[in-house]
Amino acid sequence: MAKTRTRYVCQNCGRVAASFLGRCPQCGQYDSYRKEVVAEEKPAKSRSAVRGLAASNPPQPIGRIDSASQDRLPLAMGELARVLGGGIVPGSVVLIGGDPGIGKSTLLLQVALEVAAQRRVLYVSGEESERQIKMRAERLQADAPLPADLLLATETNLAVIFNHVRELAPALLIVDSIQTVYLPEMESSAGSISQVRECAAQLRELAKSHGVPVFIIGHVTKEGNIAGPRVLEHIVDTVLYLEGDRFQSYRLLRSVKNRFGATSEVGVFEMHERGLREVKNPSEAFLAERMVNAPGSAIAVTMEGTRPLLVEVQGLTSPASYGNARRTPNGVDYNRLLMITAVLTRRLYLKLGEQDIFVNVVGGLRVDEPAADLAVAAAIVSSLQDVPVRADTVLIGEIGLAGELRLPGQMAARLREAQKLGFRTAIVPRRLRRGERWPAGLEIVEARSLKQAVDAALVSPGRKAKKVA
Ligand code: TYD
Ligand code: MG
Repeated sequence: MAKTRTRYVCQNCGRVAASFLGRCPQCGQYDSYRKEVVAEEKPAKSRSAVRGLAASNPPQPIGRIDSASQDRLPLAMGELARVLGGGIVPGSVVLIGGDPGIGKSTLLLQVALEVAAQRRVLYVSGEESERQIKMRAERLQADAPLPADLLLATETNLAVIFNHVRELAPALLIVDSIQTVYLPEMESSAGSISQVRECAAQLRELAKSHGVPVFIIGHVTKEGNIAGPRVLEHIVDTVLYLEGDRFQSYRLLRSVKNRFGATSEVGVFEMHERGLREVKNPSEAFLAERMVNAPGSAIAVTMEGTRPLLVEVQGLTSPASYGNARRTPNGVDYNRLLMITAVLTRRLYLKLGEQDIFVNVVGGLRVDEPAADLAVAAAIVSSLQDVPVRADTVLIGEIGLAGELRLPGQMAARLREAQKLGFRTAIVPRRLRRGERWPAGLEIVEARSLKQAVDAALVSPGRKAKKVA
């Protein structure tokens, strides 16, 4: 009988303490310590030291090692493939996080259905019954027959799941979710950080030793992190977040870590009655409902990974009824909005102190890039003065505290995308590098300051907007 002892583990960062702590000294989280009973002998130690891969894997010259890039599992779902860096790498572990109900299970069931048309897929769920999953699969497949090679199991014991994998040798394993599975030899309950970490580590070992790719779904805590974020992100190869506004149909799949491709790559999907559908041309989709020549609307060009994305930023100012005027951003950072408002007040002498300000990025998108500052500012001024922004114009630029404009990176890609979508004018910071080839047919208006840019952006009544360059 193994001796046991009690310890306290921070559920946020995994720090272990001998006694209960109200606040974690490592990550600063309050009330995050939970009691766990563990066997004296640590399973982790025996695993890495004794059963490690070293013995069967002697060091090899780098030139003789196969690179796995050729044998990625191809995916017809191009938006997912691009976020993964092109297909599924054998033996890789991919973590997909996101809010409840955002569509993680739907996305992975679609992947399972697609891959199962050719190879065997094991979909393990600790969240839903086989019947529920089947009903969803039928809906996703429309009238097409369900593939015989898609195997479903509702199981939470990881040891049993491993047995299934050894017996069935699937080409893809999906675990929905990491918080519901557990290892029976550990005493702590499913979902605790020790279980989550150890389960993920064992799944990785399974993936590496059997060469089977594993997709793991991870729930997000109310702070917006995958439970046990720090520990999990180290263990897996790729971390993807599925995000979007639950009340809107667009979903963004964002890669925040990827050992096999570029990070911050983004795939765009739309939720339909029959599952997630790829959005091949997101800029077009995001601009589809735009009212041209309406005051309070400006077009920004942000970079999502390597892809430029045109989004509509809307601003609305309205006289504050009493007390402090409110600033309500939706899709942009609150503090960034405060900063932009302050610059507009101090450098453009606008009276925003008695105005409520609402800013909205259309499509449920979040834009964190400072390159969108200028569009946010223009949308606010446009609403305040009730004058529309010039049609067919995009605004790109970061705003500095002195009211100056800064040049964001990757300007050529942004301008090309704007031109591709039929925009004719781009208002950009001065100091665009000379000699670089800008897309022909796009008028570039350079502005040194926010004031110049806003003057150039707004349609001036009675005369054509003056050109600042
Ligand atoms: P789900 O994949 O269960 O979310 P998660 O696993 O991230 O918790 O998605 C559930 C939501 O998606 C639910 O609100 C219904 C919606 N949905 C559709 O709109 N169409 C569909 O075809 C499916 C399967 C789900
Ligand atoms: Mg789910």
